[in-house]
Amino acid sequence: MGQIANAIPFFELSNKTKIPSVGLGTWQADPGLVGDAVAAAIKIGYRHIDCAQIYGNEKEIGLVLKKLFQDGVVKREDLWITSKLWCTDHAPEDVPVALEKTLNDLQLDYLDLYLIHWPVRMKKGSEGFKPENLMPTDIPSTWKAMEQLYDSGKARAIGVSNFSTKKLGDLLDVARVPPAVNQVECHPSWKQTKLRDFCKMKGVHLSGYSPLGSPGTSFMKSDVLKHPVLAAVGEKLGKTPAQVALRWGLQMGHSILPKSTSESRIKENFDVFDWSIPEDLFAKISDIEQARLLRGTNFVDETHGHYKNIEELWDAIQSGSTFDALFVMDLLYFRGDVIA
Ligand code: A2P
Repeated sequence: MGQIANAIPFFELSNKTKIPSVGLGTWQADPGLVGDAVAAAIKIGYRHIDCAQIYGNEKEIGLVLKKLFQDGVVKREDLWITSKLWCTDHAPEDVPVALEKTLNDLQLDYLDLYLIHWPVRMKKGSEGFKPENLMPTDIPSTWKAMEQLYDSGKARAIGVSNFSTKKLGDLLDVARVPPAVNQVECHPSWKQTKLRDFCKMKGVHLSGYSPLGSPGTSFMKSDVLKHPVLAAVGEKLGKTPAQVALRWGLQMGHSILPKSTSESRIKENFDVFDWSIPEDLFAKISDIEQARLLRGTNFVDETHGHYKNIEELWDAIQSGSTFDALFVMDLLYFRGDVIA
């Protein structure tokens, strides 16, 4: 991590832009609450907001950003704003239109980072997660359109989200502008060892969503923050389990995107810079048993899907992995609106 005077620590991306190491997540930040959360975060010192068109709250965020700029609370150039291309807009001609909508909603001239949200294509204009909305995916052609947005300066960095090691490698093989970021689920209970090593080797920054294990998301059945190791480390250091999980992420070398709409928790989640987890305790956290929370069931379908099952979505090894056991459990899962 680097640090600019008076600014929060950042990671430098392959195109030399600097992504602030902590960003406010806005997935499941309800309209009516998200605006106040963004304003509170920026006043506390956050300089990075992680958005997506599918979250349905970019208009409200845009209104707040405009006011913060007008009131002189922060300047546009001091903020890092990420957004994501939804699955219904993968056709090359739809990519710039989707970015324009996001820019209009956010009331911005450019994004700092624009990501392909999932390696999954759905029918244009379709809503929800019906299997028949799924379509064959053509990432290289979508990526070419993303590269044009990068060339235009409307997206100062481009990247992907929810890409497996294999899918990221396939994209790197054909990309003129390499993806600068892969944003994926990452927390002490899903540390992404293989993907992390691959990203490091290829110069792709790993950004972690659900860094607290999304405790409020019922279909993810998350107990990450309740893990006794996080509690024990927190007790030793005088920090909360959430702060320990977040600090662990920073020390692992990835940016973290904790979501909260509570001012006190937004503050708590930002108090992760001027202390660190000593090596012995860090090793204990890194030994926590592993389990993916967000399986992506809604993005696969035996009949209609580009990916027939979740092993194909994540390019997971079929036998002998934790993933297998999780897949069996997954069949029992509620087919919720999973869009992280
Ligand atoms: P809330 O918005 O009410 O604060 P993640 O970022 O991993 O997706 O987790 C987001 C979830 O974690 C939300 O339900 C959020 O609720 C909750 N949360 C955010 N910060 C904390 C914290 N410091 N301690 C406990 N829960 C938190």
